[in-house]
Amino acid sequence: MPPSEAFIRGIPKAELHLHIEGTLEPEMVFDLARRHGLPLRYPSVAALREAYHFDNLQSFLDVYYAAAAVLRDESDFHALTYAYLERAHADGVVHTEVFFDPQTHTARGVSLEAVIRGIHAALTEGQARLGMTHRLIMCFLRHLSADEAMATLEAALPFKDLIAAVGLDSAEAGNPPSKFAAVFARARSEGLLTVAHAGEEGPPEYISEALDVLQVRRVDHGVRCEEDARLVARLARERVPLTVCPLSNVKLRVFRRMEDHNLKRLLDRGLCVTVNSDDPAYFGGYVAENYLEVSRALGLSRAEVTQLAANSIEASLLPQASKREWQEKIRAFAARAADCRAYAP
Ligand code: HPA
Ligand code: ZN
Repeated sequence: MPPSEAFIRGIPKAELHLHIEGTLEPEMVFDLARRHGLPLRYPSVAALREAYHFDNLQSFLDVYYAAAAVLRDESDFHALTYAYLERAHADGVVHTEVFFDPQTHTARGVSLEAVIRGIHAALTEGQARLGMTHRLIMCFLRHLSADEAMATLEAALPFKDLIAAVGLDSAEAGNPPSKFAAVFARARSEGLLTVAHAGEEGPPEYISEALDVLQVRRVDHGVRCEEDARLVARLARERVPLTVCPLSNVKLRVFRRMEDHNLKRLLDRGLCVTVNSDDPAYFGGYVAENYLEVSRALGLSRAEVTQLAANSIEASLLPQASKREWQEKIRAFAARAADCRAYAP
């Protein structure tokens, strides 16, 4: 049975791969540039949106880092984050784990404290008003040096209680996980959990390195694991979650068309695959749009969409008791939907 749009939007789910800077919509770029008196290279919102055509990861990152320059103070980070939470809530997200890139902002003279406090205040407000729980994940830019990542980690330690994990993003090829072995070891010694982007544009060896050297508890993207059958078997056996981002993968040409995406094959192999939006302002949709497009292109069934939602809770950093509660709610939601069908005229 193919899932309806209402089913996809309604089923409770967690989002686990979301760069808060990637939720910066062109309208907000213009609002913030006006507020701060900053010049923009584009004459209009439409012209900026038009620029969102990418050949690969780097061509996207160039636009993404340039747009982030309009984020100047704590209230900007608060507005950005709260706008995302409202959209995610409308897509059935009950728990979100949000990445942020401190180095993108501190390099422009914005304090780490303003970034963290702005995002965290919005997350706390979202929990009170929308009932969404959250975790915050601080990412290091892998095109910069390990020393710079270490300095960023040290500067963030006073805010450690607000951060659940560290991650690794930006240009993957040529910047293997092992480059950050010491930084991640230090983060773990401070009680922080670890995740990393690997196997998006980089080879399957980077996925193994992320697991063995950085000791990540899940892999962001990870879709290139398919090039190594033994790695796929390991990911399935160990139930290592992959935070897959279908629209991102097509926009950045990891797959040519959504019909070519390997999400269903990986799901069939027993991997803990999840669906996420990555940088939704740039890639054409928030999380429900990712579920919808990948479901349509690959012909996913309602049972498979239910499995993806269940995987997102399993792969989250929530405590076991909350995971059990959400798994029960997902089961009940799917059963109710099946009953409605059965009794429809
Ligand atoms: N890959 C690497 N770095 C990123 C991405 C991504 O998909 N999005 C934002 N930073
Ligand atoms: Zn990402």
